[in-house]
Amino acid sequence: MKIAIGADHGGYELKQKVVKFLKENGYDIIDYGTDSNESCDYNDVALDVAHAVRDQKVDRGILMCGTGIGMSIQANKVDGIRAAHVHDLFSAKATRLHNDSNVLCMGGRIIGDEIACAITDIWLSTEFSNEERHVRRVNKIKQTD
Ligand code: RB5
Repeated sequence: MKIAIGADHGGYELKQKVVKFLKENGYDIIDYGTDSNESCDYNDVALDVAHAVRDQKVDRGILMCGTGIGMSIQANKVDGIRAAHVHDLFSAKATRLHNDSNVLCMGGRIIGDEIACAITDIWLSTEFSNEERHVRRVNKIKQTD
């Protein structure tokens, strides 16, 4: 599975941990930065990752900023993106099963690297349920793109 990943300065340190985790687990990664703690706008990175997902250059996207909120708001502006802001394992699984989310957003100032990697792991390994009610609801989201 190919993954686009990105962060602003608030998510940079966490991104480095998640990149290491993904590489160790055999994922193919495109890293859209940022590459330091220097301040930058989350918007630009969110759009790079969201466009890579929309254009099917990758299968999924992962974004981190200080809270994960700016990244999720910006990524969800892109047609075809269902970005989920997640900080717990239950939501990580549920948003794949129910929402078929294609971008995961986390806050580097909110969660530690162990839980972030566990969230990433369950989010990447859970398939959409394909149950009729969830397909119907996701289609309603797609119709509002
Ligand atoms: C940057 O200070 C911070 O605003 C950003 O990382 C993010 O949390 C925005 O939602």
